[in-house]
Amino acid sequence: MALEETKRVEEMNYFELLAWLGIGSSHPGGFPATQQNLSAMQVKPEEYVLDAGCGSGLTACYLAKTIGCKIVGIDINLQMVEKACQRAEKEGVSHLVEFRVADVNNLPFANDSFDLVMAESITVFLDKVKVYREFYRVLKPEGRVADLEMALLRELPPSVKLQLEECFGSSTNPLPFDEWSNALAQAGFQDVEIKNPQPLRTNSSVIMNELKKDWLLVKDLAHKVTNQPSLLPRLRKNADFIKKYQSYFGFGLVCGRKPTPKKLSFKDRIRQFLF
Ligand SMILES: C[S@@+](CC[C@H](N)C(=O)[O-])C[C@H]1O[C@@H](n2cnc3c(N)ncnc32)[C@H](O)[C@@H]1O
Repeated sequence: MALEETKRVEEMNYFELLAWLGIGSSHPGGFPATQQNLSAMQVKPEEYVLDAGCGSGLTACYLAKTIGCKIVGIDINLQMVEKACQRAEKEGVSHLVEFRVADVNNLPFANDSFDLVMAESITVFLDKVKVYREFYRVLKPEGRVADLEMALLRELPPSVKLQLEECFGSSTNPLPFDEWSNALAQAGFQDVEIKNPQPLRTNSSVIMNELKKDWLLVKDLAHKVTNQPSLLPRLRKNADFIKKYQSYFGFGLVCGRKPTPKKLSFKDRIRQFLF
């Protein structure tokens, strides 16, 4: 049975709400930030990409269409994955993109599989170092990670933190930029940097225009609004929170590279063998 037939908006957690709506760009900066970041990452057609926490697949399908590379998108939410598959089918990129249900904490891929692991607004809700270690495992040596996440520009007063958690879930935990970098370095990545750091004061009308273009979101939105009177107030509450407290937040692309394993000298190999 579809989620909308079993749950009311007021019972849905934030991820269930996003999945039910089928929103394609639910991350800071919206789709314009995705485009800016993908161009900074210079993805090549021969690269194999993982989109971790892919949502309804907008970014993965866009990457397939524009670059022509092969991509796997994974998400823990089945409804998201179903919508992502519909999107790939409709946009004619099913031969390049595959979507699967999976947990980023335990990825169903062998070590050293991908050239690029990208993520957009997922690690902010999770144990960052644990997830980054899993990204590290599935990346090939010299493979890159690029994670678009919300950052804290100054400390959040406890009351604002509480409201953040009410709007986006109790595990929502944005870090200052330097702590994002530390988390990636702690997982073993090198050349860690934040690309395109910016305040959250993005042009919301640009984002709205992009959302309006997303057929997967708009196709039955009117029906959803009519049938679930709590939908608009809930969306408005989240939007009002961001508007009121946006000066606390920024976002950027947390980037790093998995180093090539060091070649051991003969002496080191003997030492490893003996001890
Ligand atoms: C804020 S949404 C962002 C979705 C998409 N990346 C985007 O930018 O539109 C976060 C996504 O992460 C997924 N997610 C949350 N926890 C996850 C986990 N442990 N493993 C995989 N996906 C997860 C949610 O289902 C949701 O689709």
